[in-house]
Amino acid sequence: MKITIRLIVSLVLVVALAVFAFSLYQVNYEKSRLARDLERRSIILAESLQESIAPLIQSNAVGKLNRIVERFGNRERLKGIAVFDKQGNALTLTAHLRSQITQPFPQAVNSVAENRSIGSFMTIGEQKMYIYVIPIYSENAEIAGALTTFNDTSYINTRLREIWKDNVLRFFTLSLLVVLSTILVVRWSITGPIARLAEWMREFRTSKEERENPVVPIRGDILTPLISEVTQLAKSLSMARAKAEEEVRSRSKSDSVWTADSLKEFMKVELEDQKLFVVSNREPYMHVKEGRATKCIVPAGGLVTALDPVMRICDGIWLAHGSGDADREFVDAYNKVRVPPEEPAYTLKRVWLTKEQEDGYYYGFSNEGIWPLCHITHTRPIFRLEDWICYQKVNEFFAESLMEEITMEESPLVLIQDYHLALLPLLIKQRRPDAKVALFWHIPWPNPESFGICPWRQEILIGMLGADLLSFHIQFFCNNFLDTVDRFLESQIDWEQFSVKRSGHTTLVKPFPISVSYDQKKETEAASNDNTSIREYIMKEIGIQVKYLGVGVDRIDYTKGIPERFRAIERFLEKYPEFVEEFTFIELGAPSRDHIRKYRELMSEVEETVEKINWRYQTKTWKPIVYLKAHHSHEEIERYYRASNICMVTSLHDGMNLVAKEFIISRHDNDGVLILSQFAGASRELKDSIIVNPYDIEEMADSIKFALTLEPSERAERMQRMRNMVKEHNIYRWAGKLIAELSHVRLAGE
Ligand code: F6P
Repeated sequence: MKITIRLIVSLVLVVALAVFAFSLYQVNYEKSRLARDLERRSIILAESLQESIAPLIQSNAVGKLNRIVERFGNRERLKGIAVFDKQGNALTLTAHLRSQITQPFPQAVNSVAENRSIGSFMTIGEQKMYIYVIPIYSENAEIAGALTTFNDTSYINTRLREIWKDNVLRFFTLSLLVVLSTILVVRWSITGPIARLAEWMREFRTSKEERENPVVPIRGDILTPLISEVTQLAKSLSMARAKAEEEVRSRSKSDSVWTADSLKEFMKVELEDQKLFVVSNREPYMHVKEGRATKCIVPAGGLVTALDPVMRICDGIWLAHGSGDADREFVDAYNKVRVPPEEPAYTLKRVWLTKEQEDGYYYGFSNEGIWPLCHITHTRPIFRLEDWICYQKVNEFFAESLMEEITMEESPLVLIQDYHLALLPLLIKQRRPDAKVALFWHIPWPNPESFGICPWRQEILIGMLGADLLSFHIQFFCNNFLDTVDRFLESQIDWEQFSVKRSGHTTLVKPFPISVSYDQKKETEAASNDNTSIREYIMKEIGIQVKYLGVGVDRIDYTKGIPERFRAIERFLEKYPEFVEEFTFIELGAPSRDHIRKYRELMSEVEETVEKINWRYQTKTWKPIVYLKAHHSHEEIERYYRASNICMVTSLHDGMNLVAKEFIISRHDNDGVLILSQFAGASRELKDSIIVNPYDIEEMADSIKFALTLEPSERAERMQRMRNMVKEHNIYRWAGKLIAELSHVRLAGE
């Protein structure tokens, strides 16, 4: 629109200028034409009167002169006649001019003196007049006086005004035509084709057919050069895109590094922009009250760490329990909120549970039953019938809530997370057999004997086998699962394909080791922050100056081996006293599941252990363990990773443990040593860590000493190798491979 206005304004200005110049010329021309005409008529009249007037002047026949003057003195535009003597005094004069003429009359005086006719414009009274004076000669050719005619010129001004008026009218008519024709021409020839071109470009971007054969359907003189360029560009883009898609396809088959961008492209190719549905108990963003204010936190735990970056790229809907005490304040009428709050990229749909449901399903069956059942830490699982009933109902409830979202979706891809929702795969498939469902089990799967103590083992297995793809972190857990199914269910197990066939439905059982995100750009930015200054800052914060820092990051859970870790630190100081006042371990512990007695007991045990060890060793300016019991953000945790010489992950049993991988990926400086439990899934991949048995306190104490005294070159080599491994096997690769596997699943009847 702006261009149309600019065009119209400039065209109207040009028209105004042209009309003005033309009018000026026309007025001047007309003025001089009329003046000439007046002059000509004055001359004719004066000359025709000259002969009859000359003898009358000579004979001083004033009476006759008066009659002539009166006869001619008031005709049309002739306003009067006067006859002057040689001195310029009037011998006779039209009556109404008498009072308005000064005597001697200067023009008459001049004409007599110069012996020539003189014509001029002047104002007489209040009237503009053309005065023409000619000398009158006597018979002997001497000047006897002067004859003067007075003509009214006001008609000239009237005529000139008319010209101006006509031209102003012309200007407005022309301007109107200019405006209309500009709008039409701009619309037909410029904005219309450009809009159609933009529409086509959008089509080209989104429609596959258009991409395959890009032909610009717009014609137009002005756009011709542009259109041929755009066509070329579209063809090149199409080719580049096809190449990228091919690369994506081959990347999913090969092992090159996956990035957020390549996953995005991969999703476009594989899913053709189909939405992804993630279902989990834990939500990725939780709104909680803090005094009078509310804040949004990212809950601790591997599930969120891993899946949030994937959802940020893939968009879609993440369905989870809204467990934050301020969660309801932030959702819309459909219980949805776009997250992350600072840069919304996907939709979180919150499912509300009553306190009783949360008690029975989450605290009870999930975390007092399945959790200790699957983690071999010698914590006895508790199975209550009422918890099991509640667990089934809540799984139904999640299924209903998901159904609302996938009604309109054709063959939707659903990624269910973890042991809280073991029954969900079957519930979904019963309602939507066309859905492609994956269940990712984030915790270990025990051997059949251990799992077999669960009173509802068959129901759980049947529920899980509703999935098309069932995935664990490592092959060992897959094997345990298949052994368990073999032991407790009638089914067909294919040990070559790693699948289970039951009631006509096949479930593929495959390991997909989960990981963390890796961003080359972020790494380059972060690398510019010096780790030494971060370390100095942290030491100032805790009020301790030491040579070596260690870090542990955990949800306070009995599977994480936290007291064992502290006992190993105590033993280390006992065995290697040279490290007293030289080494401090910082534990970042996030309180977790604190309605469960075991967890409360653990929290007390952790605090007492720290207290005991610190009491034994601490000095005025130093203590061996700093226990920071709070929820920490990823950014805060990263500072501690970067400032520490060692990181200890001493889980008694763990599906994967992403703290280990987060520590590795945050060490841009290739420094730092990881001490890692052999019972964490991560130990299968991070072979350059110092692998320990967390039950063996002596071994752990020695490992701390070993880690702190490792040669810098060896530290760097180990770290570099682990970093390469995590960079390559990052979360984008995990998601890409898992989703590809799921989308290639062939449903019954396909
Ligand atoms: O890793 C197992 C797991 O249950 C995850 O699902 C979750 O992210 C984490 O532990 C935290 O547990 P919760 O959701 O009970 O706080």
